This record gives sequence, structure tokens and C-alpha cells, in this order.
Amino acid sequence: MDYLEIIGQQKLSGVIKISGAKNAALPLLASTILSANTINISNIPNVADIKTLLKLLGMLGATYKHDDTNITINTKTLNQTKATYEIVKTMRASILVLGPLLARFGHCEVSLPGGCAIGQRPVDLHLKALEQMGAKIEIKAGYIQATVDGALKGATIVFDKVTVTGTENILMAAALANGKTTIINAAKEPEVVQLCEVLKDAGVQIDGIGTNTITIEGSNKELLNFKPFSIIPDRIEAGTYLCAGAIANSTVRVQNVEPNHLDSVIAKFEEMGFVLSVDETSITIHPAHEIKPVNITTTEYPGFPTDMQAQFMAVATMANGVSIIDEKLFENRFMHVSELIRLGADITLNGTVATIKGTPNSLIGTDVMATDLRASSALVLAGLVANGVTKVHRIYHLDRGYDRLEEKLKNIDAQIKREQE
Ligand code: EPZ
Repeated sequence: MDYLEIIGQQKLSGVIKISGAKNAALPLLASTILSANTINISNIPNVADIKTLLKLLGMLGATYKHDDTNITINTKTLNQTKATYEIVKTMRASILVLGPLLARFGHCEVSLPGGCAIGQRPVDLHLKALEQMGAKIEIKAGYIQATVDGALKGATIVFDKVTVTGTENILMAAALANGKTTIINAAKEPEVVQLCEVLKDAGVQIDGIGTNTITIEGSNKELLNFKPFSIIPDRIEAGTYLCAGAIANSTVRVQNVEPNHLDSVIAKFEEMGFVLSVDETSITIHPAHEIKPVNITTTEYPGFPTDMQAQFMAVATMANGVSIIDEKLFENRFMHVSELIRLGADITLNGTVATIKGTPNSLIGTDVMATDLRASSALVLAGLVANGVTKVHRIYHLDRGYDRLEEKLKNIDAQIKREQE
């Protein structure tokens, strides 16, 4: 297994080009199951999760060409509808093939995604919504067995909790259903918005895009004609590299971003005393005279994203004072806390609330272990500013969602390299 070795205390400076958003590319790749034609997709991030989903689509019979950041895919040849445990256990977002497979073929078997480090992460809301659309759902030997006679039926779906992939699954199922579906309490993340826009461009009548109530007129199982599209920039990758600038109190610019996807993150940086300059496609963070503590509660978009919680906790260890972070979305998304404490951070947990007593320059490099995607990035950020050498182990978690992270950090003068255990 690989690990990252980081020599801390380096001033950073420079520009990082942000890749396409993993969490936009995954549902969009799954949506190609609904397509009658070959589709060209650009600005695909070069991350492990994309390769996993492509492998799954290939196993189902799709044909595709993947070169660097472009994918050409045709799912006309799809002839399987079983997503096996082997694939789903490596990436829970494989659940995103459930809606489109069921809508197109009237049957499918998808391994129940297990929990993961950050929480139990059930998919009950996905299944309940599909049943309301006429599907018969059975759980057998760890598999979701879904069937429907003819087309799924349009229905009014009220999500008891806002669910990003739940909204995406139902959007895709509704696109081929017979009649109108209304999703109430829909997720509004930019990644959900892009899925709506791509489906709309493919001829699906969708209203309420970007709001919490979305209506979809289904095609009654007629496959769609997708236009070529480019994946939106990854707002979480951008936020992570801005945190690198923040924690090292350096000037760093992230390029190829949609700044308005990061309004809540920018506001929290400014609360901490950092100065940010924003233009059409880039954001630059400048040093703070003094890094101030911050209070954060994670919530659905456009609120502060849970996927930025771990990274901001790392920055908060450098603040002068006590920060409070309340993680409202996932019940176990504090796996990075014990590792940050090993680096010398002063953090206490009480249920969903973390209290971080920040002291500038207080971290000391050592060996730490990554546990999940965003926790891993928080440990890398801490290593950038810790005194001495930090080794971050099990970085296969990082490789799932960050495209060439060490290369991008080296480009802004970080002393970081990938080694073999
Ligand atoms: C998506 O996960 C993202 N993944 C996550 O990013 C992100 O953290 C999360 O949304 C929240 O923004 C992708 O888009 C591939 P949810 P998702 O369904 O859809 C509960 C990353 O780092 N819930 O919005 O799985 C659930 O347990 C990943 O890139 C149910 O109870 O999250 C959670 O507490 C990590 N039943 C809350 O809702 C359900 O049926 C939000 O989950 C579905 C969800």
C-alpha cells in the first residue's frame, strides 16, 4: 500500500487546476443507462471511483473509451442488470445504477451498499420512493431485487430527509417513468442540478431545477438522446486546496472553479480572518493576520458542506482560540479526530459536536492513518503545517476522490511524496 510523506512548515504559493466533480460524474455516468445514443463526456476526474463505476457499467455490457478526462460511452449493448457485491463493496455510489436499470429494464439486482467509515448510510429512502413508483422491492441475501411490470409510474415523492443520491436515483427513474413525478424535499447540490440539466438537454421535461421541489415528465420507457456535456468543477476539491492555503497561511489560487458553488465555504474562511479574491473561474486565498476560531454546523447545500468538515477542522487547529464543529449529516464523521490528536491537536468530542482548542504551530509530525476520503485530506493538510515529517497511511481512501493530489500540492511548493509501505 502507498503512503504520503510530508515535510511540514513549508510556505505554499501558486495555482492549482481543479478537476471535474467526482460527485457529479458518478450520477451522470449512471444516467447513460437511459441513453439511446453514444455520449461524449469531458472534464472527467481521474479518480478511482470513476474507474470503479466504469468497470461496473462494462460488466453490465456497456462499451466505452476512457482517455484521461474524456469518456465516450454507449449503453445500447447493456445486457446485464446485476450489480455484484464485489463492485458495490468498493464503492457505495454504485447504488446509482438502481434507478436507471429498473426504469429501463423493469428488473435489476443491486448489492445493498454496506455502511462505511462515516456512518451506516442506509438507502431506505431510495427504495421507498421506487416502491411508490410501482416497483416491487425485496432484499434477499444482501441484494436489492427490484422489479416492475411495464414502466415505473410517476408519483409524488416526499423525502423525509434530504438525500443527494436518493434524489439522483429518483430523477433518473422518473425520466423513463410513465407520467409525472414530483420530488418534494429534493437535494439542491450543484451535482444534482447538473444531472437535471443533462436530462433536460436529453429531452426530459424537468421543472424546479435547483429548488427543493422538482417535477419530471417521464418518457414512458423511451430511451433518451443525450447531448455531449462537460462535468462541473469539483467544489470540494477546490475547498480542500483553499484549506491548504489557509492552514499554511499562504497565498494559493484554485483555477477552473464555479465560485458560487462555494459561497458558504468562502464565508467561513472570511470569518476566520482570511482574505479571498474571487473572479469568474478562480478563487485566491490570502494569509490572515491572525487565524480566528470558527463555529460550523454542517447541513445540506447551500449550507456548509459535510464534505468540507474534516478539512476545516484541520485549519481550526491553527486558529487562536476555540472552534465548534457540529456534524449534523453523518453519525460517525469524526474518524479524523483521533488522528489529528496524534499530531498534537486539542480536540474533544461530545456526540455530534467537536470542540477544537486551536494553537498556532502546535502540531508535530508523526504517522497517521486515513480512514475515509475527506478525513484523509484533513490529515494531509495537517501534515503541511506540522513540525517535522508526517506519514499518511492507507491513502487508497484519498485516491478515490482526489485527482493526483500530491502532484497538485507539489505544484504549490509542498514537500510531499508518495512512497510504498
Ligand atoms: C452524497 O452521499 C455524497 N456522495 C457524499 O459525498 C456527501 O457527503 C453526501 O451526499 C452529503 O452531501 C455522492 O454524491 C456520491 P445522502 P449520499 O443520501 O447521497 C441519510 C464524498 O466525500 N439517508 O445525502 O450517500 C444518510 O444516512 C461523499 O464525496 C438515509 O437515512 O448522502 C445521511 O445521514 C461522502 N436514508 C443523510 O441522509 C437514505 O435512503 C444524507 O445522506 C439516504 C440517506
